[in-house]
Amino acid sequence: MVHDYVEDELSKRSVFKSEQFLSIDYVPENLPHRQNELRTLAQNFKTLIDSPGQTSVKFIVEGPVGTGKTAVVKRFSEQMFQAADRRNIRLHTIHVNCRVNKTEYLVFLRALREFKPEFPRRGHSPEELLQMLVEVLDEEDRYLLLILDELDYFIRQRGADILYDLTRLTDDRLNARQRVSIISIGRRIPLDEDILDSSTLSTLQRNLLRFNRYDRIALYDILRDRVDMAFRKDVVMEDTVQVVADIASAPGDARYAIELLWRAGKQADRDMSSKVIPDYARRAKADTHPELRKEVLASLPAHQRILLLSAARQLRENRGAYVTMGEVEEMYQTVCEEYDEEPRSHTQIWEWVQDLTSHGVIDTKKSGSGQRGQTTLIGLSDVPADMLEGFLSDLLDDNDS
Ligand SMILES: Nc1ncnc2c1ncn2[C@@H]1O[C@H](COP(=O)(O)OP(=O)(O)OP(=O)(O)O)[C@@H](O)[C@H]1O
Ligand SMILES: [Mg+2]
Repeated sequence: MVHDYVEDELSKRSVFKSEQFLSIDYVPENLPHRQNELRTLAQNFKTLIDSPGQTSVKFIVEGPVGTGKTAVVKRFSEQMFQAADRRNIRLHTIHVNCRVNKTEYLVFLRALREFKPEFPRRGHSPEELLQMLVEVLDEEDRYLLLILDELDYFIRQRGADILYDLTRLTDDRLNARQRVSIISIGRRIPLDEDILDSSTLSTLQRNLLRFNRYDRIALYDILRDRVDMAFRKDVVMEDTVQVVADIASAPGDARYAIELLWRAGKQADRDMSSKVIPDYARRAKADTHPELRKEVLASLPAHQRILLLSAARQLRENRGAYVTMGEVEEMYQTVCEEYDEEPRSHTQIWEWVQDLTSHGVIDTKKSGSGQRGQTTLIGLSDVPADMLEGFLSDLLDDNDS
């Protein structure tokens, strides 16, 4: 690596050399312990480059949180693009996050805009967008590898029609060139026998790649690379890396491991220590939680954050597993006042509760009969209430300033 003197000066008194290598969006060149997965993808998709237009490949990548699904598929699609490009095949790879692009319309729009950047946001149906997408591909002799990331969120809210529509699109073109291939990514993608015909279903089930949780050794190797990239030489103690790998091996989550490492470094800076000692990692563990999906929370509209904060606060105060919808609404009034926001209607709040449930952030169930009549009970899926409360307060305060 080239020595960067400016960064060097700027980072004096910090244990970090290049903190950005610890950010969530960064995908490293090298992905230790995922060679087999990368190879499997390459074996299955090489036909798109060997014999373009002959077949459409559809693949599903499943696995628990932080097991490298997004990173591996991003790295893989980049290599596909490069290989195609070297052979003058116009293969486009588009990575759509279906949690953010929440409707079929938005997903197809995102894809179409790759080819028609100015395409207007409104005025067409999803079917029309898809049709136009195919036309552009045909006219310009291009191919598309469409990556539908976090598709499980999408399907839980909207059903699996999107898979059906995309599959039909390729099935209807038996004698024409196959232009579109798909990789679907999710923790678990519900494949519904009612909407997908049995042959599509069995193809998808055959083309399923499962990512397993990382063990301590894998996490250690992943962390080691990041230590070298992100920290100044010799500041992170060997034991610290071991401790982080140990802690993160319970969930087997690389994102959590990297976050712990980053936080340990932050703690060292705060203490003005020139070494990242194991205790900083242990302390980082107390401040964070693997299931706290920061990127999900950060992308919530302010009002949903306030609602969630209200639920967390109510849960913390009650010390129970569940609180009632009514209690949360009451707390919501108070929190709105605190943040100078106009409280929204019951119907709106109800919709947000559904939304947060489908994101897996909260857990809802109906109370048993007899217990204050039938009411909805709200709990948190995986995260301790006080931790969620702390995180949301920070997020909301940041936005205020
Ligand atoms: N094998 C690996 N080598 C290096 N870094 C990795 C590896 N696997 C994952 N990471 C890093 O760990 C973090 C989490 O990985 P990634 O986002 O791919 O997880 P995911 O399986 O998509 O999780 P989620 O289900 O939450 O979307 C990312 O910062 C990624 O760069
Ligand atoms: Mg992901």
